[in-house]
This record gives sequence, C-alpha cells and structure tokens, in this order.
Amino acid sequence: MITTVADVHTDTQRTTQPLVIALRDVVKQYRMGDTDVQALRGVSLDIARGDFVAIMGASGSGKSTLMNIVGCLDVPTRGHFWLDGVDVRTLDDDDLARIRNRKIGFVFQSFNLLPRMSAVANVELPLAYAGVRPKERRRRAALALEAVGLGQRMGHQPSEMSGGQQQRAAVARAIVTNPALILADEPTGNLDTESSLDVMSVFAALHAQGRTVVLITHEDDIAAYAERVVKLRDGRIVEDYSQDAAAARGTHVAHAHASHAGATR
Ligand SMILES: Nc1ncnc2c1ncn2[C@@H]1O[C@H](COP(=O)(O)OP(=O)(O)O)[C@@H](O)[C@H]1O
Ligand SMILES: [Mg+2]
Repeated sequence: MITTVADVHTDTQRTTQPLVIALRDVVKQYRMGDTDVQALRGVSLDIARGDFVAIMGASGSGKSTLMNIVGCLDVPTRGHFWLDGVDVRTLDDDDLARIRNRKIGFVFQSFNLLPRMSAVANVELPLAYAGVRPKERRRRAALALEAVGLGQRMGHQPSEMSGGQQQRAAVARAIVTNPALILADEPTGNLDTESSLDVMSVFAALHAQGRTVVLITHEDDIAAYAERVVKLRDGRIVEDYSQDAAAARGTHVAHAHASHAGATR
C-alpha cells in the first residue's frame, strides 16, 4: 500500500478505516554511559485513519521518543511497529527515508522553513524530493497554501510572515504530499495564544477533511482540539480516552477567560 502523491483535497472518503499506526509492546532503550535508560517501556497503540490524537505527558515521559519511532526517524529496541500496514523492521535506511517522504507530513515547534525562499517554494520542497515536475509542484503547493488560508501569501518569505503564518506554511508543506499521517511535535510551542488557536483551527479543519493527525503537546487547551488523548508517564501509556473536542475546547476557553491561566484543567 503506497500512498500516491495526489491532489491535496482528495482524502475525504472514509469508507474503511485501516490502521495508520499499530504499535505492539514497543520498548526503546538508550545507553547512557554504563546504564540503560528505558524511554518507552512497552507501548501498544492503534491509530486509525481519520483519528485526531493528542499525545500528552510531562517532560521525560517519552513523547519525543514515541514521535521519532512513529515518524520512522528511529526504530524500537523491541516490539513491533506497522506504519500504514508496513512492518518497518523490513525496511532499510533508503526505504525509511522514502516512507517518511511519502507517508508522513512533519510539523515542528520551530517551523523549519528555509529562509530567503518564498512560502510556495518551501511548500514545494517535499514534492521536489519526490521527483514531481516543477509545474505540477507549483500547482499542488498553491492548493496546499490555499487549504491553510495562505493563498494570498505565496510569494512571502518566512521573515515577511507572522509566527502563525509561518507555522501554517509549515502545515501546508506537511500536507502537500497527501501523507497518510500528519505528525506534529509541540506545533504551538513557539506561538502566542492567538496564533496557537489559529494553527489549531487548521489542524481541526484537516481532521474534518478526513486526515489523520497526531500531535504532541503538554498543554491542555491544545489537546482540547483532539478527539482522543493519550497520556504517557515514565514510558508507559497511563490514559487513553476519547473526548468531544468542541465541548473540551469550550471548557478551556471559558476557563482561560475566567482565570487568565491559559492552559488549565
Ligand atoms: N538519545 C537519548 N539518549 C539517552 N537518553 C535519552 C535519549 N533521548 C531520550 N532519552 C531519555 O528518555 C526519556 C524520554 O525522553 P523523551 O522521549 O525526550 O521525553 P519527552 O519528549 O516526553 O520529554 C528521558 O528520560 C530522556 O532523558
Ligand atoms: Mg520531547
């Protein structure tokens, strides 16, 4: 099952919901001098197509380790991981690089846009790596930028855009290959409240179109946009529940206004 590079607006049909992510008893161990650090201690997790999941947990709980494995940037020490039905243990480094480019759209806390390149040129990059021709690249990048509300900012360089706009451009870059999974690590970590909500409304819209979104956050008011919350503690899943995202969001907005506390429970 290879996800072809297709028009960014296609993924709206949800007749079946195959698993985009299946983890079984995943252990990740790091060697630190002469001791072993167990960053993940047996994680099993299924994420279906169309899910919108927030991965939460305190610093050191294993969020980034999990993200690196799910994003095919690292491999488990033990256990199994299937990405979109493919057992990643069967893949070599070249295959992993290819699967990252085709199946996963990454969004990082620090945007990672190239300076002195227009928004549209930045968004085209994953298509360039995938060998798509320039004219077709430009067409799809323009569609992706329109999808995140940046249709009027195609020619702007990162320095000419606000933080929220830069992150929306990064989201456009993440969706331009029509990936099976959008994977975001603290995507609002560098943004003020208004820009954060702006970027989260883009993720919510992508989810509404049927896309699969996994985002890592330690903020409750950001997790409130997701329909499912998975909490990690000391390398283990300690909670996994569904929520009514609209209701959860309403609670947090009311709470934030009442207490000026921002991220509250
Ligand atoms: N490359 C590494 N080498 C050694 N220990 C690591 C490495 N990466 C993470 N760890 C350890 O694994 C645990 C989980 O880390 P991490 O996944 O970064 O957590 P989080 O992203 O939730 O803060 C921590 O104890 C951390 O110190
Ligand atoms: Mg981390």
